[in-house]
Amino acid sequence: MAAVSFDYRNLIEVEGGLEEQEIEGIRPRLQEVARELAEQAPGFMRLPRATEYREAAAALAEEVRSSGATDFVHVGIGGSALGPMALHRALNHPFYNTLAEERPGPRLHFAENTDPVTLGGILDLVEPESTWVNVVTKSGSTAETMANFLVVRGALEEALGRFGYQKRTVVTTDPEKGFLKQIADREDLKLLEIPQDVGGRFSVLSPVGLLPAAVAGLDLTELLAGAAECVEEVSEGGAEHPAVTGAALHYLMDTQRGRNVRVMMPYADALERLAAWFVQLWAESLGKEGKGSTPHAAVGTTDQHSQVQLYMEGPQDKVIELVEVESGPDLQIPAAYEDLEGVGYLGGHSLRGLLNVECDATRRALTEAGRPNATVRVGTLNERNLGYLLQALEVQTAVAGALYGVDPYDQPGVEAGKRITYSRMGRPGY
Ligand code: PA5
Repeated sequence: MAAVSFDYRNLIEVEGGLEEQEIEGIRPRLQEVARELAEQAPGFMRLPRATEYREAAAALAEEVRSSGATDFVHVGIGGSALGPMALHRALNHPFYNTLAEERPGPRLHFAENTDPVTLGGILDLVEPESTWVNVVTKSGSTAETMANFLVVRGALEEALGRFGYQKRTVVTTDPEKGFLKQIADREDLKLLEIPQDVGGRFSVLSPVGLLPAAVAGLDLTELLAGAAECVEEVSEGGAEHPAVTGAALHYLMDTQRGRNVRVMMPYADALERLAAWFVQLWAESLGKEGKGSTPHAAVGTTDQHSQVQLYMEGPQDKVIELVEVESGPDLQIPAAYEDLEGVGYLGGHSLRGLLNVECDATRRALTEAGRPNATVRVGTLNERNLGYLLQALEVQTAVAGALYGVDPYDQPGVEAGKRITYSRMGRPGY
């Protein structure tokens, strides 16, 4: 069983919090939305049970690992990168790439932005003769991804000769259309498919996230089992499931209380990228037709020394969502300087104990100051809990889309900039 729970009491009990009748008022619509979600089962709801993607990703990962690969370069942007990065940061060693013998797979590199300094840095590090590249783009034509791919391909071709790079190139894309699919066919590249009804930001549990996770030795079965648990619970619980209820509460906080900033603040460095993934999910899915709340990522305790002042005393426009990890690796704080009262009290506690006390302290301080907040509790950071949490946040976003009355699966607002880029870069037809 996944150990993930949602505590929304401080959205209701806090001064100025939501009233029972407001929540009751939205319940019939929420029940309808939850029923539709279960009936229509959009692509992302079916991924946890889609064994074919897990098997294909696991088999390819095994090929990568057994080939003696030293480096695996994942090229993609937006939804084609943020989910894989979130999984990597949450579940692998924090310094995975610099581990030597104990590292369970090749070094993982993410080429997301088209910043030449970053990609140049990756190319400085990798050993071309034992490097694999995975190009991930659902549309098969994203300029940033294709440009980064061409650079990596060029470097591998130079080191390995014409076509030498082909054996170690994976293409993760739409199974039927797009330029990348054409390239894969033309050069006989290995191909993993992104299901046609799953958009980028909802694709972390498709081959987009599964291949890099498996390459680094993560347990795909557990990851998907956690997500499947969430899907089952949502189908059974409908509007009562906390992920669904949470969508309504955040929606009401925005539309009825003017709290149009949603801060996700995990108290775990390992969840920093998860917050970045969620920011994209919420922003790109809901920010349409003048609607949507603005997601923001923070990390506790670090941002207690940066942003909490604003959350406590700044404009009353935010909902703060703390994410607490209840247990995991820990370090004891040795007793020392016991004669110095400002230091000695720390001895005998642990770093995780301190982290979680600080999370609780922030929650209480926010509540006392009349600042609405919620808490997501994760038992420990493992595949099962992460799978559940990712799926729950996707469900919440999809439900929020229905409440706002927008299509959570499109992103028309990013097209204009793309067209200008294509035209400036000389793409025919633009
Ligand atoms: O969520 C989305 O759909 C987007 O963020 C895309 O993932 C992003 O634009 C990259 O698109 P593609 O995977 O087609 O390269």
